[in-house]
Amino acid sequence: MRRVMNCSVGLALMLGMGVAYAAAPDPVAGREKATACFSCHGETGNAESPAFPRLAGQYQDYLVKALEAYADGSRQNAIMQGFAAALSEQDRKDIAAYFASQKGLVVKQYE
Ligand code: HEC
Repeated sequence: MRRVMNCSVGLALMLGMGVAYAAAPDPVAGREKATACFSCHGETGNAESPAFPRLAGQYQDYLVKALEAYADGSRQNAIMQGFAAALSEQDRKDIAAYFASQKGLVVKQYE
């Protein structure tokens, strides 16, 4: 019985730590972490130049997936590989939350 109790305390601690580690995406922290991205993607994620994709208003999940893919090499781009690989999982979520929360100015070409 004692062993079972010890086990469940250990499990509760592990779960607690898991929750602390996987904190909810924080767009305010994300803005701070994204300053290195502004020179290309724009401060609000609405890049001025068509050479850089606009991130503003994009789905948060899409942005996280794109950054994961650059980091693990399944999406190849020499510039983005370095930036994405330097981010932690939490950084990616926070930055994605920031850009996703911005008003997107993507121009639809075929209207
Ligand atoms: C030196 C310029 C530059 C900087 C700085 C930069 N990026 Fe990029 N980013 C690019 C380019 C160019 C692409 C398009 C690459 C491609 O074709 O896949 C891109 C693509 C992306 C995409 C994929 C967009 C899509 O629609 O699929 C994401 C997400 C992204 N960048 C996030 C970031 C984040 C976050 C940072 C900062 C940590 C950052 N970028 C910094 C140039 C840059």
